[in-house]
Amino acid sequence: MIEFKDIVKKYRTKSIINPFSLKIDAGQLVVFIGPSGCGKTTLLKMINKLIQPTSGKIFVNGTDISAMNPIELRRNIGYVIQNTGLFPHMSIKENLELIPKLKGEDPAQIEKKTNDLLEMVGLDPKEYLNRFPKELSGGQQQRVGVARAFSTDSDIILMDEPFSALDPVTRSSLQDELFQMQKELNKTIVFVTHDMDEAIKIADKICILKDGDILQFDTPENILKNPANDFVEGFIGKRRVWNNPELMLAEDIMIPQPVKITAMRTVLQAIEIMKDNKVDSLMVTDKQNVLKGLVTLKSIQLLNRNTPIEMIMEQNVLSVSQDANLISVLATMNEHKIGYLPVVNSAKQLTGLITRSSILSALSSQLIDLEVAF
Ligand SMILES: Nc1ncnc2c1ncn2[C@@H]1O[C@H](COP(=O)(O)OP(=O)(O)OP(=O)(O)O)[C@@H](O)[C@H]1O
Ligand SMILES: [Mg+2]
Repeated sequence: MIEFKDIVKKYRTKSIINPFSLKIDAGQLVVFIGPSGCGKTTLLKMINKLIQPTSGKIFVNGTDISAMNPIELRRNIGYVIQNTGLFPHMSIKENLELIPKLKGEDPAQIEKKTNDLLEMVGLDPKEYLNRFPKELSGGQQQRVGVARAFSTDSDIILMDEPFSALDPVTRSSLQDELFQMQKELNKTIVFVTHDMDEAIKIADKICILKDGDILQFDTPENILKNPANDFVEGFIGKRRVWNNPELMLAEDIMIPQPVKITAMRTVLQAIEIMKDNKVDSLMVTDKQNVLKGLVTLKSIQLLNRNTPIEMIMEQNVLSVSQDANLISVLATMNEHKIGYLPVVNSAKQLTGLITRSSILSALSSQLIDLEVAF
């Protein structure tokens, strides 16, 4: 666990980090993102004491690091800087084994770990162990940098734009590998990037920074759905809903308060209610608003007007929960060839109705926002 408490950083009189407090839970991958110069690297380097705060405290696993020996602290915190920081005169094997050896770990175990780590980042140990960094491509060096950060067996890994120099394909595969490794090895990772797509892809939580202030610290999903202010909104860009349709939920695309009727009413009353509301179907609910069925104009218009709805309503109506996403909503509608889908809450109470036109209007409002944003 890492905690920043009232951290301030000034260079001469210029304030770089304003009073900054943040808690990063163990086992989480937290991404710091923000414009150039906002203080991301400064914050990262404070965690391993490469930079001292002007005031405030940082706790690592509950211990105030100001009293800790910096060398000792750094041996227990993996650190990946841009351009990897591999030692050029050491082979890949030596680079990876340096800190474990300094820590006096068992040589046989070190060897096995080195092999495992290289395999984890997609490099064949037989081929790469004895090469020197300059004999590797930039992307391969970056992979070794990531492996080295994991080699320290530390719970905490700091990564400062580790993938920024890579082509999109390599970058994407390293993001996947990092995500997997983090989940398997349960590390706490603080990751700095400029790239919102990267942040969304790997983060448990994203911390959006500007001029040394936290604008928002939340899960990617919450930030995308509820940006804290215009700056965050501009930073993430509206188009993201298009790229992440799983973030659009039934409750975002439904018509709230659909027209409904109780089962005790008659066909005549149902037809009247439909006419009044200019709809051709009604949800049937009980007194507690629990969804019981559905009637359509087509199915009732030729029936005896006094027939109770209870006797002729369609029962076992398909519904979706409010938090079903757009993809599963569309899949359900396609699979069952239906043009409408009632939405219910956890108590099966009717909260809305999705129709083809409600989907279209939700999507087109995104499109219109998109055009304004550009
Ligand atoms: N030694 C220093 N003396 C004075 N100002 C400094 C020093 N180091 C950093 N700064 C300033 O502190 C601010 C934050 O720098 P920092 O490196 O943390 O930014 P960053 O968010 O990592 O930016 P980037 O995305 O460009 O890497 C910048 O305005 C920078 O100019
Ligand atoms: Mg930086």
